[in-house]
Amino acid sequence: MTNPLLRVLAGEAVWPPPLWLMRQAGRYLPEYRAIRGQAGDFISLCTNPALASEVTLQPIRRYGFDAAILFSDILMLPWALGYGLAFKDGEGPVLPRLTGAAEVASLQPGRVLGAVAPILETVQRTRAALPAETALIGFAGSPFTVACYMVEGGGSKEFALIRGMAHAQPGLLAGLVDVLVESTVEYLAAQVQAGADAVMLFDSWAGVLSPLLFRRHVTEPTARIVKALRLRHPGTPIIGFPRLAGVRVGAYAAATGVDAVALDTGADLALALPLVPDAVATQGNLDPLALVAGGAALAAETRSVLEAARGRPHIFNLGHGIVPQTPPDHVAELVRLVRAA
Ligand code: CP3
Repeated sequence: MTNPLLRVLAGEAVWPPPLWLMRQAGRYLPEYRAIRGQAGDFISLCTNPALASEVTLQPIRRYGFDAAILFSDILMLPWALGYGLAFKDGEGPVLPRLTGAAEVASLQPGRVLGAVAPILETVQRTRAALPAETALIGFAGSPFTVACYMVEGGGSKEFALIRGMAHAQPGLLAGLVDVLVESTVEYLAAQVQAGADAVMLFDSWAGVLSPLLFRRHVTEPTARIVKALRLRHPGTPIIGFPRLAGVRVGAYAAATGVDAVALDTGADLALALPLVPDAVATQGNLDPLALVAGGAALAAETRSVLEAARGRPHIFNLGHGIVPQTPPDHVAELVRLVRAA
């Protein structure tokens, strides 16, 4: 196995650690903004294999990261299920607000694989264009985080609607999560079939749930996805990202069976790493704002992550996605710092 990222996911403590960055393709890159301008809206870009594959490759050409991540969005799954989705400039995603069982029943799992065909073609083209030593990561949102956007009708600060639903209408949310589990398995298996070397489940809002609801709507559905995917593609590693899970990362890693757990910006590695089973790799967790600041702050924060992770299987990454105001030169500096470790 030549790819350092896949070696880490198989449990090897490769040093210096392989690196890639969440949202490494995006608005901080002028070459992305140029293509984004050509594509029309964001969904058109995600469903245009030539352009989406080009955008996936841009940060690899510029920085030589150890992995490319498919250019798409976690909300393309509800879109493929026939649920409404629009991206409004400056506002983020807008969806209908899911309030009842009728909307769950109207989702169309039979339509998913046909609808995502262009995204699968992006995976195929990108894998064919990438060097062998660069891994291609496919992804999906986790059922709970995708449900957050469906129930709230978009982003939210408190996620009060879905948290209220989880307590007051547990069957309704469980029904929605069940549909999303099934479709996520189909979607991720198809990405692996198309050439993804590893897959990641983004659970950006996992941490807003109480411990009881976290087990029910985060850990348990993730375990079901991992089990089903392993049956179909036993060799494909799975990275889970239960953002804001805090001390729950260890139990999450053990109970879901993921190959790696991604840690968010606030996770103190000195406290969090001992909670993660030795055989499970970790990923993270530089503050994206340190990357904006650059200079001494970037060097100190990078060193702190590297020192804490040394000796265990670890993938260097951010604790959340790159923000649009990141200077591209700072990313080059980060790559230099990590490769010199
Ligand atoms: O480079 C990569 O990481 C691959 C592509 C990718 C995107 N979104 C592209 C994108 C990935 C892996 C995602 C994941 C995603 N999308 C998450 C989980 C990770 C996280 O950030 O918590 C979530 C919650 C979403 C939903 C989403 N998509 C939001 C809330 C927004 C609006 C906010 C924003 O950053 O604009 C998006 C839009 C989006 N997804 C953009 C990109 C590059 C910006 C759209 C544009 O170019 O106009």
